[in-house]
Amino acid sequence: MEIRPANAGDFDVMWGLFKAAIAPQDALPFAGSYEAGTFRSHWFQAQMPHVAVLEGQVVGMYKMGANFPDLGSHVASATYLVDASLQGRGVGRALVEHSLEQARAQGFLAMQFNYVVSTNAPAVALYRKLGFEVVGTLPKAFQHGKLGLVDVFVMHRFL
Ligand SMILES: CC(C)(COP(=O)(O)OP(=O)(O)OC[C@H]1O[C@@H](n2cnc3c(N)ncnc32)[C@H](O)[C@@H]1OP(=O)(O)O)[C@@H](O)C(=O)NCCC(=O)NCCS
Repeated sequence: MEIRPANAGDFDVMWGLFKAAIAPQDALPFAGSYEAGTFRSHWFQAQMPHVAVLEGQVVGMYKMGANFPDLGSHVASATYLVDASLQGRGVGRALVEHSLEQARAQGFLAMQFNYVVSTNAPAVALYRKLGFEVVGTLPKAFQHGKLGLVDVFVMHRFL
């Protein structure tokens, strides 16, 4: 598997992965009204998207960049997505590890995830394994599609 910077030609596949990931309403705070233009500006203009390519197909992606500008700009944040049919095979771990290397190389001091749904077991487990700790809990902050209101974690690690 190769992880490389995303380019304009990857947009349609990436948008498809994103739409599929928000449909279950169990991991990300976006719903059907989220538009392709917003996705483009969030993923391609403000951040640094990378894709995971397996046998010529884009199967996962992440974006990573400063969590806040200026006085908060030494802390990175990131978002990861893996094609649902290929989850559980190490693609997510490879993406997180790649983003941590990128963040270190760019001089960030820490990585913070602002919105990890507490019931998203694969994400929470993966981040914990890679050294992140839950540093805060936002009570009932996410409207889960099946479970109703659930907590959201803020997770952090120094680089
Ligand atoms: C979170 C996500 C990116 C993980 O990607 P993935 O390719 O499935 O992850 P991996 O296969 O690399 O698994 C990572 C680790 O988590 C563990 N894990 C996976 N599912 C788990 C579960 N339900 N409970 C406990 N551990 C689990 C795996 O065993 C693996 O551990 P290992 O590397 O020590 O073997 C992926 O599930 C995804 O895209 N989910 C939808 C979008 C999302 O939730 N994004 C994150 C928002 S915060």
